Amino acid sequence: TAARFLPPLPERTIPALREAASGCTACPLHLTGTQTVFGEGPERAPLMLVGEQPGDKEDLAGRPFVGPAGQLLDRALVDAGIDRAQVYVTNTVKHFKWVQKGRRRIHEKPGRLEIVACVPWLESEIAAVTPTGIVCLGATAATALISRDFKVTQDRGEILATPYAGWIMGTIHPSALLRIEDPAMAEAGYARFVSDLVKAQERLA
Ligand code: URA
Repeated sequence: TAARFLPPLPERTIPALREAASGCTACPLHLTGTQTVFGEGPERAPLMLVGEQPGDKEDLAGRPFVGPAGQLLDRALVDAGIDRAQVYVTNTVKHFKWVQKGRRRIHEKPGRLEIVACVPWLESEIAAVTPTGIVCLGATAATALISRDFKVTQDRGEILATPYAGWIMGTIHPSALLRIEDPAMAEAGYARFVSDLVKAQERLA
């Protein structure tokens, strides 16, 4: 796992972790990903958002949530009254996993081994940032940090106890909202996502 790439304990600041993660070869995804996409945000943030893995745009930019899902997330944060600049945003897996389809790189879900290999980075980010609350965006983050039995449909929006922070919540991934074709369903799904974020925000005060 990535544990062997971690800097010594007293030096695990976000910049030191980002630097160390840039050379991580703990799983095969470093061979096909353009670069490690580390988390970003204040080094002490009350709220941490955890996604799945960088997408195509994030892989090229080297920053989390800057593509279509990131734009939807940005809009939802604004609608929830949350300033993204105050939030630490990261992913469960730090490299983009993809398959070629024609000229496009299509996202593939990270597997258990890649998640387990990468999770020392996420755990170290949590330890450095010491957030009050963690919101898991989608099943990958929620199963990595909350429970392998976490079901977004059943368990989303619940404020749960965790050893990682004051509380943790899982909700839908913004990419899942982008895949809803029916406009009314998409709008309802978006509204529910915003209300989960509002609930998280209210728990910070
Ligand atoms: N989806 C994610 O889970 N993370 C990103 O950074 C972008 C898309």
